[in-house]
Amino acid sequence: MSEPRQILVTSALPYANGSIHLGHMLEYIQTDMWVRFQKLRGNQCIYVCADDAHGSAIMLRAEKEGITPEQLIANVQAEHSSDFADFLVDFDNFHSTHSEENRELSGLIYARLRDAGHIATRSVTQYFDPEKGMFLADRFIKGTCPKCAAEDQYGDNCEKCGATYAPTELKNPKSAISGATPVLRDSQHFFFKLPDFQAMLQQWTRSGTLQDAVANKLAEWLDSGLQEWDISRDAPYFGFEIPGEPGKYFYVWLDAPIGYMASFKNLCARRPELDFDAFWNEGSKAELYHFIGKDIVNFHALFWPAMLEGAGFRKPSAVNVHGYLTVNGAKMSKSRGTFIKARTYLDHLQPEYLRYYYAAKLGRGVDDLDLNLEDFVQKVNSDLVGKVVNIASRCAGFIHKGNEGVMVAGDAAPELTEAFLAAAPSIADAYEGRDFGRAMREIMALADRANAWIADKAPWSLAKQEGKQDEVQAICAQGINLFRQLVIFLKPVLPVLAADAEAFLNVAPLTWNDHLSRLENHQLNPFKALMSRIEPAKVEAMVAASKEDLLAAEAKAPAGNGELAKDPLSAEIEFDTFAAVDLRVALIVKAEAVPGADKLLQLTLDIGDERRNVFSGIKSAYPDPSLLEGRLTMMVANLKPRKMRFGVSEGMVMAAGPGGEEIYLLSPDSGAKPGQRIK
Ligand code: 2FM
Ligand code: ZN
Repeated sequence: MSEPRQILVTSALPYANGSIHLGHMLEYIQTDMWVRFQKLRGNQCIYVCADDAHGSAIMLRAEKEGITPEQLIANVQAEHSSDFADFLVDFDNFHSTHSEENRELSGLIYARLRDAGHIATRSVTQYFDPEKGMFLADRFIKGTCPKCAAEDQYGDNCEKCGATYAPTELKNPKSAISGATPVLRDSQHFFFKLPDFQAMLQQWTRSGTLQDAVANKLAEWLDSGLQEWDISRDAPYFGFEIPGEPGKYFYVWLDAPIGYMASFKNLCARRPELDFDAFWNEGSKAELYHFIGKDIVNFHALFWPAMLEGAGFRKPSAVNVHGYLTVNGAKMSKSRGTFIKARTYLDHLQPEYLRYYYAAKLGRGVDDLDLNLEDFVQKVNSDLVGKVVNIASRCAGFIHKGNEGVMVAGDAAPELTEAFLAAAPSIADAYEGRDFGRAMREIMALADRANAWIADKAPWSLAKQEGKQDEVQAICAQGINLFRQLVIFLKPVLPVLAADAEAFLNVAPLTWNDHLSRLENHQLNPFKALMSRIEPAKVEAMVAASKEDLLAAEAKAPAGNGELAKDPLSAEIEFDTFAAVDLRVALIVKAEAVPGADKLLQLTLDIGDERRNVFSGIKSAYPDPSLLEGRLTMMVANLKPRKMRFGVSEGMVMAAGPGGEEIYLLSPDSGAKPGQRIK
């Protein structure tokens, strides 16, 4: 037996200002399956992650919510952690980049780079918001496109004509934060001298560390010459102040990857068997893998290895890049209900359904992966319920009925036993190479063979015949042994199914090498259904709830564009804009739950001269809607009617609070009359 490997694995650190969605989950599930496979094989494999907590977007978002950035990132970390845990993503540590470990390591790496001459400083001229008192990143500047004159375009590219430009070329520029006209201002910036590492990167990117497609893309950048990288931002900024440089902060992308080290360091403090230096020092024998999406390759395959090299640390063994998730063949769409948050999925469906579907469709490459919702239902039901679980449910009953739950000894199908053993190395290779799709195909081919053999032997017919009891027991014991091997092969993907199967099989947690042995003269526990079929109605309900999530987000962002992360502060509005809003006192005549919608109430509102039908995402706070009937509230009466799945919504009622049970419908003082205007 070879020595167990020491492996450190990471997934990209999610930003601490938004929810995890099924696009994110593709990466965490992919990484988790790979890590679980390594652990199952007996390797020491450590999986760390953290929230990516710095940057101006997070600072502005916290300001908008009226909380400190520290409170915001703590709230988001709690939400992210439970989303991951409920999807069975089993991090050894989930930390934060806003941590002492990260502050120290970022300072150390910066100091080493500076002392080795890899940091330059020079003045940079940039737009500055004179009202807000801060420099503006390109996405916080809006104006008229210099090419096609489309209005309201971001500072670096036009969504209308696709042109890219410098923010200074934008006509009539405005700060997206305050609405003020920005002015140009100079400031001293710090740069990481990436060109110092050109030769190293040329070699490193071609040394088997990257998929070919990724290495080819990088070669284009490397061949056209590397630029120095701006790693500082001016106050106000939420991040780490650069040691010895008051008012200057590390750019979020400088300390984000260092967050991988910091999370591991934080774990080392709790796990004395782990030695930080043994994993990170130059010449380390441990393996280091980063799993990322294709949008952040430059940070991980250029800047990051260069920073590590320049600071005297080891470089990654490989950076594993995956493509994007599409749903039903298209980019995830909020209005189609295919922008599905992790929590919305979990409210309706089991995590292992999605883990299996992703596994079945994931290859080694950077191709996009399509979650086709019909295919999802069909494939999970047919493979997991129809093939794998079916073997156990077909055989268990006969063993319990005919032999008190004891599996007899003997091999009733040596050719199948042989085929299962022979397939294991190839399945292991597929897992190791992240070709989960091939692993699943090979496992399902074995399941097909097992089912065909059992169907051919038909123990259910033999059981009715005299003198065939021994044969029935031999067939079913063989069936359960084959099932047990399939469970081992699937355990990295389906850890809950595996745990439930272990309970039924009455065995200790299975490891990869257990597939080499079989159960004989072995007592089983009673069989319980291991997995139920996906009901298509649940998928429909999830899509409907995702549309509601969008409405809830829009209700929270009355400024309108729903893209909170891009435009975190609503600009001030003119009085005329305010005056154009027709706010009225409304009497709630009727309030009912909407069948098929988890979050919506249907309200009938009396506004004096007419009645309005309004759908409102407030059900979580008013589980008994009838209590609202007869109550006065306030509504926006001239909102354009919106066609929804359940009908047309003719306005919006006004409520306060963060959501969930904490939604408070606004009410006027007593004496107000339905239909009165609010001024
Ligand atoms: O793109 C993103 O979502 C980043 N928050 C990923 C950071 S990965 C690492 F470098 F920290
Ligand atoms: Zn344009």
